[in-house]
Amino acid sequence: MKKVLFVCLGNICRSPTADGVFRALVKEHKLEGSIIVDSAGTAAYHVGNSPDSRSSLAAKDRGYDLSTLKARQVVEADFYEFDYILAMDNQNLSNLEQMQPEDSKALLQLFLDFSELPECEVPDPYYGEGKGFEIVLDLVESASEGLLRHMMKAV
Ligand code: 4NP
Repeated sequence: MKKVLFVCLGNICRSPTADGVFRALVKEHKLEGSIIVDSAGTAAYHVGNSPDSRSSLAAKDRGYDLSTLKARQVVEADFYEFDYILAMDNQNLSNLEQMQPEDSKALLQLFLDFSELPECEVPDPYYGEGKGFEIVLDLVESASEGLLRHMMKAV
């Protein structure tokens, strides 16, 4: 059993999108019994909220359901619970690195390290126009494929 936690700032746009897309891919490969997926934010602004409606709609248009997700903040226990903690951008990665307890074995990385695209970060779409949500999905779909390939070698 491997556990993956996707992390962004608010846990209402990028990491819930990654959660929904990667969860769907895991299901498609019938790996729900082997891979657990969750998401969280480094900030607490939106704790308890559903994903941003723009993220939910963009995801729904591609067949992903984000309706059951609720925002939560990263907690210390996550560093012991999860095998992979994957950040959407460098700022969130840096915050996670500062939070990680010394004896935590979780692998902290940028999510897009698993994509073959040239981008390193998933840009924050929150204050931008609608296109940002499509860009998030494009990047997340690519990295999800790469992550699953990587994990299937290890499972
Ligand atoms: P996320 O996007 O980190 O992808 O969930 C954001 C959501 C909310 C805010 C910033 C980014 N905010 O400042 O409230």
